Amino acid sequence: MFLAVKLSSTRMRNSSRKVRQYMGSMTHLLNENISGSSLVKIYNAQNQESDKFFALIQTIRQQRFKVDMASAFNMIFVNILIGLSLASVVYFSATYLTMTAGEFLSYFTAMGMLVKPAKSLININKPLQTAMTAGESVFGLIDEPQEQNSGKKQLKDVKGAIKFNRVSFGYTDQNNVINNIDLDIKAGQTIALVGSTGSGKTTIIQLLAKFYSPKSGSITIDGTDICEFELDSLRTQIAFVDQNVRLFNDSVKGNIALGQIQNMSDEKIENAAKIANAYDFVEALSEKFDSQIGEDGTKLSGGQRQRLAIARAIAKDSPILILDEATSALDSATEKKVQAAIDEMQKNRTTIIIAHRLSTVQKADKIIVLRQGEVIEQGSHQELLSANGEYASLYKHQFN
Ligand SMILES: Nc1ncnc2c1ncn2[C@@H]1O[C@H](COP(=O)(O)OP(=O)(O)OP(=O)(O)O)[C@@H](O)[C@H]1O
Ligand SMILES: [Mg+2]
Repeated sequence: MFLAVKLSSTRMRNSSRKVRQYMGSMTHLLNENISGSSLVKIYNAQNQESDKFFALIQTIRQQRFKVDMASAFNMIFVNILIGLSLASVVYFSATYLTMTAGEFLSYFTAMGMLVKPAKSLININKPLQTAMTAGESVFGLIDEPQEQNSGKKQLKDVKGAIKFNRVSFGYTDQNNVINNIDLDIKAGQTIALVGSTGSGKTTIIQLLAKFYSPKSGSITIDGTDICEFELDSLRTQIAFVDQNVRLFNDSVKGNIALGQIQNMSDEKIENAAKIANAYDFVEALSEKFDSQIGEDGTKLSGGQRQRLAIARAIAKDSPILILDEATSALDSATEKKVQAAIDEMQKNRTTIIIAHRLSTVQKADKIIVLRQGEVIEQGSHQELLSANGEYASLYKHQFN
């Protein structure tokens, strides 16, 4: 009996694991299709997506079937085993043993009483195996290595001088996305990163915020390697407008005062919205700053979302400001206004601007031009135009 249970348990566990994986994929697929339903419709992708769904359902059905088959096999095997043992007791006691009717009856009843517990043992095996595979995924997640936070130093009175010393990094072991980058940004300077798409601009600022660590080289703030800082302390110093604006399913207020909703005054929130040119549209919403903006801000336009993200960075009021394509969704009139606000913010702050539209980076103290993860030129707008290299040709392209 033990052998039968052991054999079927392995089979049950493998299939249960697969059922769990495919159920995860199915939830993901459903989520993607519901939130992206307009995309599916406009590209006429209904058939392609429903084929994926049916293939998943089919696999889940097969694997569930295997689990049930293994469990049923167990049951049959045990029932036969129990039947055979009862029959052999009757046979041997009748043929070879001399028992009184009373002795036989008590012996047989005792045997009969073993049937139920034996069956229960088998019945418990299926939920046990399923629960064990569920446990595997939960414990797998719990056992994921934590973000390295071995630094102890706290950043205080940050001036904001940033240096990259021969930094290389790649998302995989094989390929480097950033190669031997040297950057020297003085405290309070504004620098711009430009370069074709995929050249590594966003990666550079992800390294600065320590979402990833360089493979080689070092990054310092005010002369200290960022590895030595405690993560919270480091990230408090950085305000960030992401290239892909992310908003939370919360009120306008909750989104602007992200992480500080308990202690940020309404006045500060409104002021940040005014500077980011978001105040007027927020006031026009039915519940103004308390209006809910929907999942990822779906109730707002692209430009409105971007202005909320800028307001959020303004409200954070950190000594290092990073703007990754922060004004790309704005019309040129609004962009001009927001740009003026950003210019104002840059005072007393170290600012890194990433932009494809070169009109937004001309005033930077230094423009750094990247190509395939390497710095190919740097200097002021005028210097780079006179050098007549990559930047000058990009500039001519955009303005002719
Ligand atoms: N999370 C990631 N995992 C693996 N590769 C990535 C990841 N993020 C970016 N990459 C790769 O790294 C390279 C640099 O990407 P990065 O986002 O830094 O470019 P970028 O200069 O910001 O481009 P863009 O102007 O389009 O925003 C690209 O080749 C990209 O495919
Ligand atoms: Mg980018």
